[in-house]
Amino acid sequence: MSMSIEETQTPRPGFPKPTPNTPTNVLDQFKLPNRVAIITGGADGIGLAVAEAYAEAGCNIALWYNSNKAAVSRAEELAKQHNIKAQAYQVEVSQPERVADAVKQVVSDFGKIDIFVANAGMAISKPILETSIEEYRRQMEVNLDGVFYCAKYAGEQFKAQGSGNLIITSSISAHIVNVPIDQPVYNSSKAAVTHLGKSLAREWREFARVNIVSPGFFDTKMGASEKVITEGLRMTPLGRQGDVKEIKGLFLYLASDASSYTTGSDVVIDGGYILP
Ligand SMILES: NC(=O)c1ccc[n+]([C@@H]2O[C@H](COP(=O)([O-])OP(=O)(O)OC[C@H]3O[C@@H](n4cnc5c(N)ncnc54)[C@H](OP(=O)(O)O)[C@@H]3O)[C@@H](O)[C@H]2O)c1
Repeated sequence: MSMSIEETQTPRPGFPKPTPNTPTNVLDQFKLPNRVAIITGGADGIGLAVAEAYAEAGCNIALWYNSNKAAVSRAEELAKQHNIKAQAYQVEVSQPERVADAVKQVVSDFGKIDIFVANAGMAISKPILETSIEEYRRQMEVNLDGVFYCAKYAGEQFKAQGSGNLIITSSISAHIVNVPIDQPVYNSSKAAVTHLGKSLAREWREFARVNIVSPGFFDTKMGASEKVITEGLRMTPLGRQGDVKEIKGLFLYLASDASSYTTGSDVVIDGGYILP
């Protein structure tokens, strides 16, 4: 039922809320001193670029990986190069107990979690009539359930701390239907996490911000495959895949005080792919 005009005009106690005490200088707003970030899928690709961006801004890093053990040496390099604390953790995100334990472990090792980047994902790009039930379940388990578990256990910590910042790597596949290879399961898993993120932005309004990044084609292991690249380049006005260095600024913006008034947003970064 809608409110009456009088009711809508009655000031609510506690509003407006105070402006946060963040720096005025914009470059200072982008710094992450003494912050702690967990990044899933952090051993390579977009996740590693995000870890580099945050380390360059002074943030301590918990680099989560699943199968790529290069995460261990990459965490060591980040720590040495940027004079921060960084550590790798092996976490299969489709296992809720593992995610819960790893969140607790990071809090015990680093003292808190300021930023959680739920970035791990996978794709089995096939039409539904060629997709087995196992293939369907696996993609949903990693891309949707995994983000849900990360959000749930990070969110508990954010609530206990009274602050937090969740960033979800979704995809333009949450906005458009990919061509020329049909991949309805991946597309719908990403659409689900985009809306999960928006929903959490409201649910967590008292203590945390939540935003979504929707990349187009980036030149990583999950970038455009041989079957897709020619059409992908034709569809992308900028005519190329993104380099992961080009996504660092967006993830840093969303993690930092520069975005203190940004929550529930879904930022597309795709060389213009979804325009036509
Ligand atoms: N590249 C693109 O064109 C593009 C476009 C739109 C969206 N995305 C999204 O961007 C994110 C990162 O992908 P990327 O392009 O950087 O490719 P990537 O380098 O292959 O990264 C995917 C990451 O997900 C991790 N992962 C997969 N299954 C996992 C599981 N069960 N548990 C924990 N971690 C798991 C992998 O970890 P291990 O290697 O350690 O197993 C890997 O680091 C994904 O969510 C993807 O859907 C990518």
